[in-house]
Amino acid sequence: MAATDPIRFQPVHLPSKFRPLRFILRCPCVTSTIPSVEREANSLLAKTSGENVLPGDPDVVYLWRFRRNEDNEMGLPVLRIIGDVHSQILPEDVVGTHAQSYSDIIAGAGYSVQVGDMGDGETYEQLNAHVDGGRHRFFPGNHDHYNRLPPHCLGDFGPAECGGIRFFFIRGARSADREKLLQMGRDLGRILWFEEEELREDQMRQAEQAYLAARPEIVLSHDAPTDIARHAWKFARRFKAPNPTAAFRPSGTNAFLTRLLDRHAPRLWMFGHHHHDWRYREGPTLFVCVGELSYLDIDSEGQVPGTTMRM
Ligand SMILES: [Fe+2]
Repeated sequence: MAATDPIRFQPVHLPSKFRPLRFILRCPCVTSTIPSVEREANSLLAKTSGENVLPGDPDVVYLWRFRRNEDNEMGLPVLRIIGDVHSQILPEDVVGTHAQSYSDIIAGAGYSVQVGDMGDGETYEQLNAHVDGGRHRFFPGNHDHYNRLPPHCLGDFGPAECGGIRFFFIRGARSADREKLLQMGRDLGRILWFEEEELREDQMRQAEQAYLAARPEIVLSHDAPTDIARHAWKFARRFKAPNPTAAFRPSGTNAFLTRLLDRHAPRLWMFGHHHHDWRYREGPTLFVCVGELSYLDIDSEGQVPGTTMRM
């Protein structure tokens, strides 16, 4: 079984002009998009030892490098958490050159949970045909087709267990592209936007009760609490064309997840929706945004690579 080995964790002090970044997840898309930051960070890295960097230092940039092993050295079951898929199930479905398809990603994992925006009805047919729904699960986001969800779907929210790892999941988010989806749907004669995309108020109340009863150590959701989502959104904006009118507008889901966080802070909170790998620690919680067609493995101790000493 392939696994992600412990990440090479290389903290370096961040020059003041880059302080708004605070965290960089080093990957091909980052280095090709902001080469000046890459050069600066590498030069700093060459001069700086990470040993004197305090956890949580706001002026530290974290460079992460993922490297895959052929073998899982610990011989332990792995739960792979996968970001948005958007119908890119097979290699020929993948848009872009750097990403692995969903089918390739799950091939290296005993168990997986995909955190929403899996795809449409045709996607679910592919899952039904090719993917073991007992080991590879998902819950819907805002770009899933709620009228055709397959058995691989975990549901709306609640405590769950997969690969021996217990977690609490919460589906849903608000679509920023709702008007576009509605128009395209009218043009194509298909439903492309679903009003179920966010939990209803009564579902949120039920979810809150279940969450407080479970007091989970690990939370998986499609979107994130408001402040966390704002950070992840700002980071993701760096990979898009400049748009001075773009603004983060918190949704009912963001507010709901904030309420949950205020009442109980888990040890690890992983989410998708914002399409770029990003991580941030606040208080006892490590927040991890898993990018589109990206993934991170949780080991049998419920830890993600590179963070054991910092949890
Ligand atoms: Fe989404």
